[in-house]
Amino acid sequence: MPETTPKGLTRLAFGGDYNPEQWPENVWQDDVRLMREAGVTMVSVGIFSWALLEPAPGAYDFGWLDRIIDLLHENGIRVDLATPTAAPPVWFYREHPEALPVTADGVRYEFGSRAAICHSNADYRAAAANIATRLAERYGDHPALAMWHVHNEYGVPVSACYCASCAAHFRRWLETAYGTVEAVNEAWGTAFWGQRYAAFGDINPPRTTPTVGNPGQALDYRRFADATMRENFVMERDILHRLAPGVPVTTNFMTALSQCDSVDYWAWGREVDLVSNDHYLITDGRRTHVNLAMAADLTRSVAGGAPWILLEHSTSGVNWQPRNPAKAPGQMARNSLGHVARGSEGAMFFQWRQSRRGAEKFHSSMVPHGGTDTRVWREVVELGASLGSLNPIRGTRTEADVAVLWDWHSWWAQNLAWRPSEDHDPRERADAFYEALYDRHLTVDFAHPEADLSRYPLVVVPALYLMTEAAGDNLKAYVENGGTLVVSYFSGIVDASDAVHEGAYPGALRDVLGLTVEEFSPLLQGEHVRITGPDGSELSGDVWTEFVEPRGAETVWTYADGLTAGRPAVTRHRLGEGTAWYVSTRLGAEGLDALLGRAAEDARVAPRADLPRDVEVVRRSGDTGSYLFAINHTATDAKVPLDRSGTELLTGERAAGRLAVPAGAVRVVRLDG
Ligand code: GAL
Repeated sequence: MPETTPKGLTRLAFGGDYNPEQWPENVWQDDVRLMREAGVTMVSVGIFSWALLEPAPGAYDFGWLDRIIDLLHENGIRVDLATPTAAPPVWFYREHPEALPVTADGVRYEFGSRAAICHSNADYRAAAANIATRLAERYGDHPALAMWHVHNEYGVPVSACYCASCAAHFRRWLETAYGTVEAVNEAWGTAFWGQRYAAFGDINPPRTTPTVGNPGQALDYRRFADATMRENFVMERDILHRLAPGVPVTTNFMTALSQCDSVDYWAWGREVDLVSNDHYLITDGRRTHVNLAMAADLTRSVAGGAPWILLEHSTSGVNWQPRNPAKAPGQMARNSLGHVARGSEGAMFFQWRQSRRGAEKFHSSMVPHGGTDTRVWREVVELGASLGSLNPIRGTRTEADVAVLWDWHSWWAQNLAWRPSEDHDPRERADAFYEALYDRHLTVDFAHPEADLSRYPLVVVPALYLMTEAAGDNLKAYVENGGTLVVSYFSGIVDASDAVHEGAYPGALRDVLGLTVEEFSPLLQGEHVRITGPDGSELSGDVWTEFVEPRGAETVWTYADGLTAGRPAVTRHRLGEGTAWYVSTRLGAEGLDALLGRAAEDARVAPRADLPRDVEVVRRSGDTGSYLFAINHTATDAKVPLDRSGTELLTGERAAGRLAVPAGAVRVVRLDG
């Protein structure tokens, strides 16, 4: 992917969603004054403004937008201008009620929130194309324009519509994908339960059925819904490209799976000029900075390693979780700079000024209800200054140590109904393996299972139920050529149609792992098994066990109890120049660390035992040099060993030997040489 940056932005992005239409114009002067005080460099404007920009069909009011964009420009603030197509006006729905999406149960949503869109609807497409055209014609060559922000978070909150026009569109999509209805029957296995289709015209979206519907149909509908949203993005993007050449186009992703699970960001990453992401902490008691690091690594990976932009996060609490704690002092900067360490070219927020009315009035912002005599504002100003001093890092890339395989299609398939155990959650396994790698202070790239993996000494497959034969071959070649692979249970089971690979499990991975799995034997809730290692070490597993039959692999840990007692729990297979590990139960943190420790030895990935837990160390490097980010998430001062001396950019101090990182602080050293 060619590297693209916001047009005319010469500093890191710092700012947020700016909704001036919610405020009288006299507040705007105050806004830009404060933006300058905080060092704001770019704001996102117009995301939900369609009803104001086109108050009646074909009647436009661009006056207010002209004035605010000019004002921002006069103050040196770049504009990320949105197409407002995530919020069609009420007149549009009055004329086209069928553009409101329908649930699988047949309920049509009402107007009155946002993003109530059937993406197959031709009238919606025409209206979206029209407003995008008007905006591009009017602002395409405005000197303030830095980039286009198309729509808002495709896939959230409506990930699919099940209406009649979607049914027709789905049939066309199937015809293109499969050619004949026989091919659909074959792929979906419609011989089962007599679901055979005689013609494309008989096929519907997977609407509510009395019991489990056809999994192939459900999986294809996910693909179709994702592709349909992407068609609409591409339609808008092409208009913007044509009318405003040279201005990059993005749309804000939400790569954290807990926030959007319906979009295949590998595919979307190929369509945008510049990847951008929104991230919010899920405050469920887990270590939020680990989830943040994971989302940032995934975003960078979707961007092909190129710099990306954090377009939204929060200064403090959000307002849409059951409980919304404020951020602790310093936490915002750790969050913002955590994203920057992992490749973001800045840190932007939702939103600039906290709303007085509407659904998000209790969501934190850069200018809180309490104004500027507040902790949040002081921290915002401080962050602006920090980002100012980090300017040299622009364009550098985060260095990764290992790869974790990731595929949204596999995730979709895995989450279909009637699996061996509802306690197996592929997301939980991805989180757990990521956390174990994080705790070993390894930086992770995510990779598609068919991607070239040769540059990684260690590749981890946390739970990849759907794997094509090509992916299996890819992993085999990776190991044969010297790579070290770690695979967790229930991976490589089905092909792209959710059909079990022929022969014994795990069809796509039998050869590389040197084993077969005769049967899955998930455990009951709360049940545990002991597994013992050659040195007498004992670990514990839960949720899942398997009857593994080694066929070339050696047994390293063995089940000590349960139905599978005496059988292999963890195996190791030497193949060609490399090694493939397999674990057939759900290990806890201790077990994962032990397993990854052994695999890291095979991979010769050096341990970073000298770094304290929760002191995050990440490097970015490129033409302007090499930068070490150290983020201390603990309440204790820490020391981070430096292999070279350098200059700490936030304090301007020289650093050598062991870098002091005070409790809760961030340090960024530009390494000499
Ligand atoms: C995002 C959305 C913003 C705002 C924010 C609140 O998902 O794009 O418009 O709603 O959440 O956290």
